[in-house]
Amino acid sequence: MNDAGRKKELLSGLEREMVENTALPLREANVVFGEGNPNAALMFIGEAPGFHEDRLKRPFVGRGGQLLTEQILALGWKREDVYITNILKRRPPDNRDPLPEEIEAYKPYVKRQIEIINPKVIVTLGRFAMNYFLPQAKITRDQGRVFDVGGRMIVPMFHPAAALRGTGVMNLFKESFKQLPDIVHGKVKPTAVESTAALEQTQPTRQTNLF
Ligand code: URA
Repeated sequence: MNDAGRKKELLSGLEREMVENTALPLREANVVFGEGNPNAALMFIGEAPGFHEDRLKRPFVGRGGQLLTEQILALGWKREDVYITNILKRRPPDNRDPLPEEIEAYKPYVKRQIEIINPKVIVTLGRFAMNYFLPQAKITRDQGRVFDVGGRMIVPMFHPAAALRGTGVMNLFKESFKQLPDIVHGKVKPTAVESTAALEQTQPTRQTNLF
């Protein structure tokens, strides 16, 4: 079996394990585990599924997801080239903010999902996903910057839903997005090195495909 096939099996196994874990919170909602290329060099991580994501069991398929998809296509990539997921794998009631204990409960699954895919770059969408990797970061100050967290590049970006609410944020979101090819191809070096204490990420050991 090739690398992508093996990773796909590992991800399916991890999802099964998560579904069977009755101790996890938010179990009344559907599982939205994530989708895309299991061998992706670039992974997008949002906050939590919303109404449309819960209904279709797919991440970022509402209005915010449409904006994310448009930006991916504008770079000449396809949505299937990257991997898209969230910190929480189930929708909180009424789309309320994730609770710290919910983030903690899903953490082992996010961590293993990242280890399996082993992306070169992780783009976090919104404050909650950013603070998962970079607890001290501030979204308005740090969006678009490239951080090295345990040898992996983390790029915080505004949440697409925030970009849809205002022109200023939308312009910054689009500008940051345009940098992604250079970041993925190693032409932009991390501007800040964050302590690995933020999260015990594993070191990337291999080069993943670069589209
Ligand atoms: N917002 C998120 O953070 N994730 C989704 O999948 C959809 C909306």
